[in-house]
Amino acid sequence: MKTFRTAASLRTYLDTVPGLIAFVPTMGALHDGHVALIRAAGTTHDLIVASIFVNPTQFNQATDLVAYPRTPREDALLLAANGCDVLYLPSEEDVYPEHYRDPTTGLDFGPLVEVMEGAERPGHFDGVAQVVYRLLDVVRPVTLFLGQKDYQQVGIVRSLVRQMKLDVAIKVIPTVREQDGLALSSRNRRLSEVERNAAASINLHLKAIASCVRANWEPRALEKRALHELTRHPLLAPEYVSIFDGDTLQPWREGQAAREIVVATAVHCGPVRLIDNFIVRTT
Ligand code: PAJ
Repeated sequence: MKTFRTAASLRTYLDTVPGLIAFVPTMGALHDGHVALIRAAGTTHDLIVASIFVNPTQFNQATDLVAYPRTPREDALLLAANGCDVLYLPSEEDVYPEHYRDPTTGLDFGPLVEVMEGAERPGHFDGVAQVVYRLLDVVRPVTLFLGQKDYQQVGIVRSLVRQMKLDVAIKVIPTVREQDGLALSSRNRRLSEVERNAAASINLHLKAIASCVRANWEPRALEKRALHELTRHPLLAPEYVSIFDGDTLQPWREGQAAREIVVATAVHCGPVRLIDNFIVRTT
């Protein structure tokens, strides 16, 4: 695996290699969820490029940015062992040079950012759009690989691609979980053992909610009830439970036609804030 620390050197290299490029952007502290994206990319593309960059502009809390785990050496080994060809490991100055003019400034994500993570983390998705645009502009892949774990992020990136008229396909890979259902996340390593066990119940709640939706419970009442149930757990503090239309990300109403219905939640557990989602139904 080749590692590049600057966009210029990466671009020069990519210009010399033929074939279909797949791109897997990450913030490092890699786990089997990231590995699933790398492996999926490898089955259909000639060259797999991954990036590791803890993007400061998408953190709405300075403490979260400082505490974000950084394990570049282990990450590089894991990437190489799973077939990654190229790692882009830039500095902040390389991603955002001094006079960088951000073409995504002023993009309007409309109702997509008014809900869930967008509502709870002001500016977060502007930062995600900014960095994803910049990375795509450097790597120029045919396919961008994203995880379903960050369901709303996929919606935002789709909108970014549409608004900026980017020529890239998006492939979404299902969430990789621990045996007990906990969605793998870089932030999980900050949980104590008891917190880690408590966090496993988040997925159980989502599955139970999905069953209730299928049994025709009224979605808004169900969200309220689920929020209350989660709050009863001494180690969990939920922010929201949302049952929504997967395409619009807006609250789903009973009987409303939808390609995909999803339930998602954000829950504070010990020092971290965890998100997870579960697909209720796809038609
Ligand atoms: P990060 O949290 O490192 O995630 C990188 C990619 O891995 C994302 O597409 C995410 O959805 C996916 N992923 C994370 N956990 C997963 C799991 N358990 N199963 C499957 N996929 C999983 O998401 C980001 O970084 C950043 O916002 C980024 C897109 C890199 C922009 O900075």
